[in-house]
Amino acid sequence: MSEKDAMDERLACRTISELRRWPARGIAATLVLVFFVAPSMAADSGFGDPVEGQAIFQSKGCVRCHAVRGAGGRIGPDLGRKVVQSSFYEIASGMWNHSPAMGERMEEFKVARPYFEGTELADVAAFLYFLKYFDEPGDPRIGQTLFTEKHCVRCHRVAGQGGEMAPRLDTLPRTVSPLRIAQDLWNHGAAMVTAMEMQGLDVPTFQDSEIIDLLAYLRNQGQRGATAEFQSAGDPEKGRSLFQTKACDRCHAIFGSQAKLGPDLGRVELRGSVTQIAGGMWNHWSGMAQAMQSLGMRQPEFQGEELADLFAYIFIARYEGQPGDPDRGENVYRMKGCAICHRPDRKGEIGPPLVEMSSEPKESVVQKMWNHAPQMWERMRERQVPWPRLEPGELADMLSFLATEGTEESTPAEGGEGPSR
Ligand code: HEC
Ligand code: HEC
Ligand code: HEC
Ligand code: HEC
Repeated sequence: MSEKDAMDERLACRTISELRRWPARGIAATLVLVFFVAPSMAADSGFGDPVEGQAIFQSKGCVRCHAVRGAGGRIGPDLGRKVVQSSFYEIASGMWNHSPAMGERMEEFKVARPYFEGTELADVAAFLYFLKYFDEPGDPRIGQTLFTEKHCVRCHRVAGQGGEMAPRLDTLPRTVSPLRIAQDLWNHGAAMVTAMEMQGLDVPTFQDSEIIDLLAYLRNQGQRGATAEFQSAGDPEKGRSLFQTKACDRCHAIFGSQAKLGPDLGRVELRGSVTQIAGGMWNHWSGMAQAMQSLGMRQPEFQGEELADLFAYIFIARYEGQPGDPDRGENVYRMKGCAICHRPDRKGEIGPPLVEMSSEPKESVVQKMWNHAPQMWERMRERQVPWPRLEPGELADMLSFLATEGTEESTPAEGGEGPSR
């Protein structure tokens, strides 16, 4: 084993142990999610198994080049931090776009190019997607500063300092989940906002990781040895029904087709972990309260794990991404040059026709694209076709075009397709 290999090996081992530790219950929680998600999602989509995906990420050597939140190889970008922000399509288009550059690095470092079979690519994508479900560790020192800057300290007492007009916030167990505190914050929002207004304070909002840091501070100041409360990953199935019983669906759709009073929670940009998404809901407190008032509704309250369940559901529903538009997809297919080699009329011998793929899940089409990428790249270089880079939306459109393609006998030429869905 060369020194480099030994180094890579060590890095890989570190990542594995990191992932195990990170937090150990993180993976357990993922398992919980998989358990609940699988029956509902797997039926009609290729939604993969993140735990399997983690194993594949290691066994196929991705980890030799890619770190996951700081631990692992350094040759490619850290996939835990920057890549995965929105949906499956973002992961898939990332892999596709960088495929030639990755290929070169693989040759250089003598890593066999991973080839995926069965549901392997779906599993890896699910693994990468779930990485962002859990918070990065918050920084309690930043949280302490925020506690003052956001004026919490004027009303709430923590570690002997602060106002007395509101409940102390250092009586929670240290193991309380961030989402539980976010839930308390939300449930007491109406009274709190009134108190803030009376003191002439703006309702605070949270950017980036602020909510995570703030809650890390509160947990840090919490009670040791108080009844341990395990961090729950939330149950998306329960969340799905809460979305109705708490009347979120009166104002919000998730990738819906009709406009509603509130933003579509699939299409809106929600960055970060579930806690951050929950923080996003808090940021819109005023707008949402007004909308509820206009409908004569009361602010919903949450008990037990309900907020965690609700956001688990929203999180998972977003994996599917915005439905593609086959008409736009046909355009992408032509503009990116796929049509040069994969002729919709099956003429030409360069690439196989893609119409047979109409009934395949998106994960499986992308897997084929990935597996054949080196040969395609070779053909493209021969013909001086640049590597077609795809935006996530373009990939979604194109796959929906390919999905409608084979269902009709005719060629897709002049606007024969109906509108999407
Ligand atoms: C030999 C090293 C190497 C291996 C092995 C490797 N990658 Fe990469 N990967 C890279 C490099 C380098 C880039 C950045 C390429 C570029 O700059 O265009 C990259 C980019 C990516 C991106 C896009 C990141 C972004 O910014 O959008 C994704 C996603 C990705 N890799 C996933 C994977 C997966 C999944 C595997 C395992 C199946 C894998 N990679 C294996 C080196 C590697
Ligand atoms: C103007 C005063 C005021 C400010 C500023 C304020 N709060 Fe509150 N907060 C209250 C009051 C009053 C309550 C109790 C409301 C009730 O009884 O329903 C409360 C309740 C809470 C609760 C629920 C406590 C429990 O026992 O369940 C949490 C959590 C909380 N606040 C967090 C915060 C955070 C974090 C900040 C800063 C971002 C903040 N508060 C800023 C007045 C304030
Ligand atoms: C009466 C209508 C209404 C109901 C019911 C409602 N919302 Fe909202 N929601 C809104 C409006 C309006 C906004 C945008 C407010 C703004 O722009 O400040 C919003 C914003 C949000 C956001 C922030 C989106 C972003 O852009 O970051 C989230 C998350 C959210 N709502 C979740 C929920 C959940 C979960 C429920 C159910 C518990 C719910 N909402 C119930 C009207 C509603
Ligand atoms: C320069 C010619 C060329 C271009 C441009 C091209 N491909 Fe290919 N494609 C091929 C060839 C050749 C193969 C078969 C490679 C092999 O046998 O491994 C292939 C294979 C495939 C497969 C696997 C088919 C199967 O049945 O397994 C998919 C999916 C695919 N291409 C999609 C695309 C998409 C989407 C685009 C546009 C973004 C594209 N191709 C652009 C030449 C091309």
